[in-house]
Parts: sequence; C-alpha cells; structure tokens
Amino acid sequence: MQAEVEVDVENDSVAVAPAVAQAMTDGAKPRFITFEGIDGAGKSTHIEAVAAWVKARGVEVVVTREPGGTPMGESLRELLLAEAMHLETETLLMFAARREHVAQVIAPALARGAWVISDRFTDATFAYQGGGRGVPREKIEALADWVHPGLTPDLTLLFDLPREVAAGRMASSRELDRFEIELTDFHERVRAEYLRLAQAEPARFRVIDANLAPELISKELEKIISSL
Ligand code: TMP
Repeated sequence: MQAEVEVDVENDSVAVAPAVAQAMTDGAKPRFITFEGIDGAGKSTHIEAVAAWVKARGVEVVVTREPGGTPMGESLRELLLAEAMHLETETLLMFAARREHVAQVIAPALARGAWVISDRFTDATFAYQGGGRGVPREKIEALADWVHPGLTPDLTLLFDLPREVAAGRMASSRELDRFEIELTDFHERVRAEYLRLAQAEPARFRVIDANLAPELISKELEKIISSL
C-alpha cells in the first residue's frame, strides 16, 4: 500500500505523533489493534470478521501483517520463515521489515484517521526472539524505541492456547515454516512471554481463550470491539 501522507522516516516521533493527534481532534479516532499468539492459535481466522465490524461503522480499516505488510517486508518474511540465521540477524530483520511497515503503512493510515489491524507486531519479537530464542529484553526494547518511538497498539488481542493443542491444529494442514517446526519447549517459552506481556499491560491486552469454539471467540471479540 502507498503512503498517503508524508512521513518523516528520519524521525517519526516528530512527524507521526502530531498527525495522529490531529486526526483525533478532527473527530476520527485512529486505532491500532494487533493480533498475537503462538503459531496455530487461530488468530488469523478472526481478523477479517473484526475488520468487517469496524468497517460497518463507516471507518477506514487497514488490515496488514508482520513480518510483511510492504513489498520489502514480504520479501524479508520469505527469508525469515525459510532461512536459518543467527538469532540477532533474525531480530534485526524483524525490525527492518517493521521499519518499512510503520513508515509506509501503519503511520500514514493512523495519521488519516484509519484503524489499523495488524496480524502481529513488536510483542511477537518479545515473545519469539526474546522468550523463544533468548535475545535480552533490553535489546528488543531499544530496537522498538528506535524503530517506532511512541507507537504502541491501543489494543492487543492475545490468542492463548497450549502448544500441544495448537500443534494438533496445524498438523497435516500444510508444510510448516521455520518457526512452526520448533519444539514444544520453544513455543511454551513464547507463550509464557506473551502471558507475561499481557500481565504487565492489562489495559492494552485482552487474553482470548483460543480453546473455545470459534463462535464463542467471535462473540467475545465483537463485545471487545464494540466497547472501543
Ligand atoms: P504468522 O504465521 O502469524 O504470519 O507469523 C509468521 C511467523 O513469524 C510466526 O511463526 C511468528 C514469527 N515472528 C517472529 O518470530 N517475530 C516477530 O517479530 C514476528 C512479527 C513474527
């Protein structure tokens, strides 16, 4: 997607924040919503429904994902999901893709008052590269401060599920990528880090029991979205 407003890629803490603030005073209330969870938790199936509810209010909605969301981000995604690499390379590439994503898609959309729904964002780096691979939290915090200062989701929907259940859902459906084939221990560390993040920021996170039937999850999501 093309940026529709000018974004100062050198320093978006200056360029983006006032634009977002302006959009809010103009009556449009941009919202940044993220979906998170371990692989196989089922988050992606609910994103389009949530987008449709928001659209029904007459609001512009941008649905996107990480890693990805821009042509360069999608190329980096292919690399990241396929190639073995050093854990720091992996972390830096996640943030390189994110930098493009914020500059080209997320910041411009919020600045014009749209709602952005992203299938994963920086919490995934804390969970996967931090919790899963052991990259120190402070290093990820430093990268987040550098790449998207002042930009935090307004709402994060965390789909929580034990790894064994998630793995069962993914089995045989298709070829698994480099993260999905990681062992149970890895995914349990990812899950534990997600839950720690949710506990640390209860006002931002809603933990969804991803073991529930899809219709029940859908009802819960509708309630959460309608309260925004
Ligand atoms: P997806 O399958 O939900 O689109 O995510 C692709 C994979 O990338 C998933 O296994 C999680 C992983 N990932 C990270 O390890 N770190 C990140 O920062 C992001 C955004 C995704």
